[in-house]
Amino acid sequence: MKLHLGSRWTFWLASFLILSGWQAGRATDSNAVPRERLLMDYGWKFHLGDDWGLGERLDKAGVSTGPASCGFDAAHWREVNLPHDWAIELPFDSKADTSHGYKPVGPGYYTNSIGWYRRTFDLPKSDKGRRLWLQFDGVYRDCRVFFNGYRIGRHESGYSSFQYDITDLANCGGKNTLAVRVDASEFEGWFYEGAGIYRHVWLLKSSPLFASPEGQFVYSTFPKNIPNGPATIHLETLLKNGQPHAANAVVDWEILDPQGKTVARARETTTVKPWGVRTVAQKTTVHRPALWSPESVNLYKLVTTISSGHQVTDRLETEFGIRTVAFDANQGFLLNGRPYTIKGTCNHQDHAGVGAAIPDALQYFRAQRLKDMGGNAVRTSHNAPTPEWLEACDHVGLLVMDENRLLGSDAANLILLNEQIRRDRNHPSVFIWSLFNEEPRQTTPAAARCAETMQNLVHLLDPTRPCTAAANEGDVFEGVNSVLDVRGWNYHINGVDSYHAKHPTQLNIGTEQASTLCTRGIYTNDKPRGYVSALDVNAPHWGNTAEAWWTVYATRPWLSGGFVWTGLDYRGEPTPYKWPCISSHFGIMDTCGFAKDNFYYYQAWWSDRPVLHLAPHWTWPGREEQDIDVQCFSNCEEVELLLNGQSLGRQPMPKNSHLQWRVKYSPGTLLARGFKKGQVVTEEKMETTGAPAAIKLTPDRVSIHAGDEDLSIITVAILDEKGRVVPTAGNEIGFDLTGPGRILGVGNGDPSCHEPDVYLPATGLEAAPVQWKRSAFNGLVQVIVQAGREAGVLHLTAHAPGLADASVDISAIAAEGVVLQP
Ligand code: GAL
Repeated sequence: MKLHLGSRWTFWLASFLILSGWQAGRATDSNAVPRERLLMDYGWKFHLGDDWGLGERLDKAGVSTGPASCGFDAAHWREVNLPHDWAIELPFDSKADTSHGYKPVGPGYYTNSIGWYRRTFDLPKSDKGRRLWLQFDGVYRDCRVFFNGYRIGRHESGYSSFQYDITDLANCGGKNTLAVRVDASEFEGWFYEGAGIYRHVWLLKSSPLFASPEGQFVYSTFPKNIPNGPATIHLETLLKNGQPHAANAVVDWEILDPQGKTVARARETTTVKPWGVRTVAQKTTVHRPALWSPESVNLYKLVTTISSGHQVTDRLETEFGIRTVAFDANQGFLLNGRPYTIKGTCNHQDHAGVGAAIPDALQYFRAQRLKDMGGNAVRTSHNAPTPEWLEACDHVGLLVMDENRLLGSDAANLILLNEQIRRDRNHPSVFIWSLFNEEPRQTTPAAARCAETMQNLVHLLDPTRPCTAAANEGDVFEGVNSVLDVRGWNYHINGVDSYHAKHPTQLNIGTEQASTLCTRGIYTNDKPRGYVSALDVNAPHWGNTAEAWWTVYATRPWLSGGFVWTGLDYRGEPTPYKWPCISSHFGIMDTCGFAKDNFYYYQAWWSDRPVLHLAPHWTWPGREEQDIDVQCFSNCEEVELLLNGQSLGRQPMPKNSHLQWRVKYSPGTLLARGFKKGQVVTEEKMETTGAPAAIKLTPDRVSIHAGDEDLSIITVAILDEKGRVVPTAGNEIGFDLTGPGRILGVGNGDPSCHEPDVYLPATGLEAAPVQWKRSAFNGLVQVIVQAGREAGVLHLTAHAPGLADASVDISAIAAEGVVLQP
């Protein structure tokens, strides 16, 4: 079966395909060789500063200058591994941009905003005749890429992935030079964005007749979109023929179930013209599909094999899931045919210690923290995510609202949108596309026409998912809200009912809500220090407390649930303050992923696990006999509070709400008892702690993979002599690591802390060790430790004057997996 694209989009798609990576090349005499995907994260040299101009010449090709030229000597440059964010390495500057977190990069800081990356690598002789590409998952931003002295491309977006065919320029059997000039002197957003090659770089190799990953699409359908009975699996493969003669191709598709058993096959034969591209499509059936959902992450694998003349020329593996998504005007979102409330969070790509350069293991850590909180969805606000975030969401079990950066139907914007949809459409986690966020012209007819054009393109590329946009106009139907599949709601909880009454057939989702303001472990607003109380009481004028928005959404199924702004804090937007505050307070967790008290509000009403949590802590020397408001988050039916054994009363817990007591402080033990059906089912106590006495190290994993990628994320807690976390401790902790690995970064979640996240050696990664340190914020620090290339034991010691030392061993074990480019 051939795929027919009978619309005006055919022309556009043809252009997109050419622009998205395929260029015809010289004839080759290659024998068939398997596809390879090599990680190019290692062995880079880095220089910060605009010391050589653009490196390109407009008059002649192949004679780029400065670091872009092959002969340039970068021996004195710093060694870095990717992902790398140089903005995180710069000191804070009170004059720098507030919303980007006071890092001296971007407009006004030109010398800090240009960075050069350079690396050389060998290609074996046997690569002659193969197709070769460099694939960049994302660079912030405006980069010029040079290969063997040729300028091979410029990519402006800081969020989209791109690739360049280097086949013609490659030196197979010798040395190759790759140079990237990155210009982060402009902002694309109003939040911390990082700077540099902050996502992976890959080297792809294939034979000349191959399946193009961006043309690979697998999706399932069911009669009436209800997943009872067999699933029809739709298979599409884009073949490319990089040869001067036509090629006969046989495409074999094999589907493996989550246990690895073959459950379906399909085949199609075709001919691809010399230097041609051709999409082939087929259907098959999976009879008893194991459905994907956040609660059961059943992942299938599609193995696509291309053969020509009985010789296998390519083999591509694509992970996917079988599930249905739908929206109903009354029931809201439906997953696998059943109403399913979105309990989501928006998140930027930013973490303590590493900034925007988030290693894969940290993506999984963040996804798991959100899941532990009871979340079942994330929104990639406000840009295309890194592909590894989607992989983490597929595996951990989080639905994804996959967001495009800007509104616009100009060619450049549509190319970005096209590439994002093609790249991400096989992920079962992605359930809806968001076309943009809070565009100022969203109510105009022109914006509506742009949105409709974008939506038409998405429908053509993906017939399975609807589009929305994060609209922050309340009771307004005109403009984008009149054309999009699903109306998105940013804030405006008071306007939803009257709007729904006027537009009862419209589909809705809460794209962005809350913006509740909290600082972990702080219980009074403190402007000079930049802290906001962690009780659920503060929000900006456009936002709401956790309880205020969730009680509205929990009781209106037609809204489909929604996404909190935000799951984790991020650098920049330190609302309601400015300097010295440098990070946001919107997170349910801080920048390290440490829980604030609202974590337990959401966990109580979003998860099935029994929750009982009290706030604030109970260590208030000097406040004896003063009143303290105690908040209790729980999903028990009743809660009793006791201070030093004396009951302060038992109260029924209102659904989606919290309980509160005003308690006269006296040191000791505050105990909560949670009741279900009149019986105590759980207890939670807070004790007045003593002075800091010891350090405790708790790694998320004690066994990780060797190979320069994997991480152990270690919680450092300051304990009193009875082993209780001291909730106000601020001791500065020093860290030493021995063994094959490195400390990647440190953080503490303090939105006003100006201590470094990274300590750079004088020259290069492997140079003399530096003294890593970080002050605790309200009792906690996070250390991110990364395995080195070799297997072995990483020994981390933490020390501070007056405290007992602590140490922990992490085993880095040899592992198969990603193949590294030597
Ligand atoms: C929203 C915006 C977000 C963030 C948030 C802070 O309006 O979409 O990016 O700025 O406000 O409350």
